[in-house]
Order: sequence, then C-alpha cells, then structure tokens
Amino acid sequence: MLNAVQRLDTARETNCTPEMYEQLYRRSVEDPDGFWLEQAKRLEWVTPPTKGGDWSYDPVGIEWFADGTLNLCHNAVDRHVEAGRGDATALIFEPDDPATPGRSLTYAELRGEVVRMANALKAIGVKRGDRVTIYMPMIVEGVLAMLACARLGAIHSVVFGGFSPEALAGRIEGCASRFVVTADEGLRGSKRVPLKANVDAALAEPDHDTPIDGMLVVRHTGTEVTMTEGRDHWYHELASDEECPCEPMGAEDPLFILYTSGSTGKPKGVVHTTGGYGVWTATTFSYVFDYRPGEVFWCTADIGWITGHSYIAYGPLLNGATQVVFEGVPNYPDHGRFWDVVDKHQVNFLYTAPTAIRALMREGDAFVTSRNRSSLRLLGTVGEPINPEAWRWYFDVVGEKRCPIVDTWWQTETGGVMITTLPNAHDMKPGSAGKPFFGIRPQLVDNDGAVLEGATEGNLCITHSWPGQARTVYGDHERFEQTYFSTYKGKYFTGDGCKRDEDGYYWITGRVDDVINVSGHRMGTAEVESALVSHAKVSEAAVVGYPHDIKGQGIYCYVTLNAGEEGSDALYAELRGHVRKEIGPIASPDHIQFTDGLPKTRSGKIMRRILRKIAENDYGSLGDTSTLADPSLVDRLIEGRQNR
Ligand code: PRX
Repeated sequence: MLNAVQRLDTARETNCTPEMYEQLYRRSVEDPDGFWLEQAKRLEWVTPPTKGGDWSYDPVGIEWFADGTLNLCHNAVDRHVEAGRGDATALIFEPDDPATPGRSLTYAELRGEVVRMANALKAIGVKRGDRVTIYMPMIVEGVLAMLACARLGAIHSVVFGGFSPEALAGRIEGCASRFVVTADEGLRGSKRVPLKANVDAALAEPDHDTPIDGMLVVRHTGTEVTMTEGRDHWYHELASDEECPCEPMGAEDPLFILYTSGSTGKPKGVVHTTGGYGVWTATTFSYVFDYRPGEVFWCTADIGWITGHSYIAYGPLLNGATQVVFEGVPNYPDHGRFWDVVDKHQVNFLYTAPTAIRALMREGDAFVTSRNRSSLRLLGTVGEPINPEAWRWYFDVVGEKRCPIVDTWWQTETGGVMITTLPNAHDMKPGSAGKPFFGIRPQLVDNDGAVLEGATEGNLCITHSWPGQARTVYGDHERFEQTYFSTYKGKYFTGDGCKRDEDGYYWITGRVDDVINVSGHRMGTAEVESALVSHAKVSEAAVVGYPHDIKGQGIYCYVTLNAGEEGSDALYAELRGHVRKEIGPIASPDHIQFTDGLPKTRSGKIMRRILRKIAENDYGSLGDTSTLADPSLVDRLIEGRQNR
C-alpha cells in the first residue's frame, strides 16, 4: 500500500503539465528573484516592485518585493470590479441551518459591503497600523472585517470563535489590540456560541490591561447582548456607503497577526506582510487548485485558522474566484451535509481536513452516495497527515475516482501551500503530500543537523526563503529566531518529521516537538499543562498526544494532585471542564490519568518519551528507564493506563 501510485484515467488539460512543473521549479530555484517578480504580476501594484527576496536566516531578516506598494483589498475586490468582472459571484454564504436563507454576493456587492465595514471601522477610530481583533462566526462579515482592515492598512488578528474568553484575552493583550469586531452569537451545528458575552468576559479578565477604544458587534442571531455605552457599537448603525479608498501599503507592511501554538510558552503572534503573502496565496491558489473562472471553490476551514486566511479570505479572492462560505459543521443536520452543500452550490473544489474525512467515513457510504457529487472536480486536504485508508475513501467514494486529490502540507508560518502534488502534473501517492511547490527547497536533517540525502527520513527544514514566509513574531523577533532558526542554524525548522522516497515525494510523519495536532487544530502540550496546573487541586501535569482514530491525535494528560486530594470521576470531569474554560472546547482532554508522580530524570526533567509510549499502550519499547529518579513509577503508570 505504502508508496502505491494513483493515476487518474481521465486527466483534463491543466495549467501545469509534468514538464512545466520541472521547468518552472528549476527556474524558481535557480533564479528566485526573476521567478517571483514575474509571479508578482498576478497582483496590481501601486508601485511595482523591482526587488525580489532580500533575506538571511542568520541573523534572521526577511523581505520580499520591498520597494513595491499595493493594497490587498484592492486586489481581492475592487480590481475585479474595475476590470468589468463586477457581476461575477464572489461569495456564496451557506448558513448553519439549511432551512435558513443563504446569501450570495457579486464582486460589485462585495466591494460595497467591504466599504461599509471599512467605514464602520473608521467610525470607531481604526487607522493604518492599528491591530484589530476579529472574533467572529463563519459568516460573510468575518471575511468583510479582514478585507476592510486590509483596505485601511490596519492589521487584523483573527481569533477562532471556539476559543474561550481567557484565550481571547491573551490574544487581545498580546498585540495590544484596542479594537474588536465580533457578533452577538455564532451558530455551529445548531449550538449557539455567545461571542459577544465571551468578549465581555475576556475584557473583564484581571490581566487584561489594554483599553478597548471601540467594538463593532454584528447582529447575527438577534439575541439580546449587553452593550457598553461609548465602547460597543452595532455594526449596522455605523456602516456607511461613503467612498473609502484603499490605503497604499508597503509590501513589507504587516497584513495580519495570527496566534499559533508552539512547543513552549504562550501562543505566538505570527506576522505576515502584505506583498509576499499576497503573491504567495495568489500563486499557490492558482497552481494547486488549477482554478478556472466560473468554477466554485469551497474551503471548509474557519477564518480563525491560517487555512481560512489563505484559502478563503485571500487566495481565492485575489484570483477572482467564486467560493462558498460555510457557517456549519459536517454532521448537521446529518452526516450528508457536505454533500448537500456540494450539490446545492455545484461545488467544483472541496478543500477540507483529514479529521472531517475520517469522521464522515465512519458513518458509512450511504450519506455520500445518496447525494449527487458530479460537480466535484478536485479534492484537497490540509492540516494533518491523511492515512491511506481515509485517502482511498475520499478518492474512491467521494470523488468517484474522477477527482485528483491534493494533500497540501504547510503551516501558519509558511503562509500558504509548500508541499503538494499539482493536479495532473504529478502522480499521487496516498498518504504523501508530494513535491515541493515552486521556490521551496526542503531538506531533511538528522538530530545533529547533518544533511540526509536521497530516500531517507529526518527532520524537515527549508533552506531558502519564499515570499509567503512569516517575517517575525509580533513584538518578539528574538523568539521568532529562537523558535524557527536556532535548532538547525541558518535553516527554517518546521517542527515536522518527514520521509522522502526514491521518487522525491515527501511524506510528513507528524510533529517531532511538543506540539500536537488534534482534529487538525494545532496545540502546544505546554498550554494544556498550564491550564491543568492552574486548577487549585492540581500539583503537576504532563500532556502528550496519542494516536486517535478520528482526531488524528488525542490529548492524554498525566496529573498529580496536591497532598490530600484524591482522583475521582467528579474531579476528572471538573478538570476537563477547567481546560475547556481556560482554552476552549478544542483542547478537551481525551484521557486524564491521576498518578502519584511523573517520570523524571534525577535532574528533574520529565521524560515525555516514556509518557508518550504509555499513552500509546506501547510498553515494549519504553527504552532506558534506569536514569529515572524513581524507576518503579513506570509500572504504576502502566497499571494506571490499563485501568483507564
Ligand atoms: O504537522 C504539520 C501539520 O500541521 C502543522 C501546521 O499546523 P498549522 O500551523 O495549524 O497549519 C495547518 C494548516 C496549514 C504542520 O507542522 N500539517 C499541515 N498540513 C499537513 C500536515 N501534516 C501532514 N500533511 C499535511 N498535508
């Protein structure tokens, strides 16, 4: 099975043949500046750039197209209207409840709505360079808020609507954001998410100091919310149609901040800039999906994640594409919802996460085969490794063996797709992301940093910069350098393990650091640990990932309690609830094991390797446990695991 090649019987004419890929890839690495200045012409610049990349990984400083100026909202919206494509459909909104009427906006209408949102932001005082926190459901106004920030030159920081008030507060504070855009409530699978109330709770957090100058609240469900006089404003009351020109921005001016988890500490605010990110998302969208005008694209991600930034808000719109914006979830009202949406809107491209595919696969084929999916032309996955069984089901059942699959590997920090097959240019191998995108130079190294050649397995680094690369961590460039460029000096280290086969295909094996990937959501084990130890009864906690059939990885927590406390079912439930409250429901522990100690070396370092093996029920290969301060603990941990 491994390394099996999947070819399509009916390849359609494509924008990139195998020969073109080879030729373009060669050019992109031999003459990156020439190649990317050429690709930069996909965008309309106020001042076209004459410079390509100017970067160093030691010390770390990255610039692309530095002497160019442009506005990405203009490129995503106005430009298409000015070019006479104002009547083309931009967004098709599909609400959570299929019985609720949806909404569809042409590019001309989108322009009108973005102007209204930008004017509302201006009315609360937003100016160029300000950070604006966007905490929204998956509705059109979320996308509008992002584009409106870009129009004004403000920096958006979107926080996933599933994060708790505590997590939101940290992200508002982290970039000293004085403005918030939210909605009264969100809807997900008929459940209501109290977004406005969460923002109020976040702002009431004791460690929240930044004063909020203004908040826009979008009326969505119509529920009653508390509005603070002078601070909170209904969006519809401030929206206006006055002219609102696009602010010309330097290519290296920040476009957005997006918080993401790492091995240690609090989530980092990764910064992406205007020109490079724009060129990268526009180019990758065009090649990876081979999109043609009039086709309907659907990325099921939330705008709270990088996938929603790059392949909802920017990539498709920069290409003038028509796309679905989906508020709901795959299993509501039933497990056929995705396929209902595909049929209703004649979706040609579906881009989703392996966890959703596995969850739907478990429900059987009938939910799929009872719906018409003849409009589908290409399928994509992102966010975590896809197991070959799920890949096959996606290919055979969902795509009826007609649709190529692109398994796209990338990260928040990379801005857009980095490793993938291109439809029809490459054979596919189920479970392998494929080949490097143009300009991407992957390298596998061993733990000592020695470069590994040929078919091998190692730690995945990228040796040369690309336009979509994150430039820094907001307010902490040293942390940026430390996190990504210090493990293997002079290289960008992805944190992923990876195999390369004899055909030069890359197979991502998952994170090799203390980051876990739960249902495609990236999480630092340290964040869950610090949530657990903030509970009054907990003394210490160690959190590891373990293989989970649907989620990819589950969250396994080892917890020691303060003297006098006993582990019980009630405390188990209390701790789960506590983590949900501190971080959000996506961080709910799957297992909590109470233990009288954690395996530590004599110098006090927790031996996570042992905890991972025990969580995986793999006791045969625990390795050397003789360096433990208390070797007998291992047997007690195993016994505790078996009783769980
Ligand atoms: O481990 C890799 C996994 O997701 C991580 C990045 O997570 P995040 O920044 O949240 O971005 C996710 C969406 C781009 C990576 O370090 N990952 C992402 N895509 C794949 C993947 N693992 C295997 N195959 C993929 N296609």
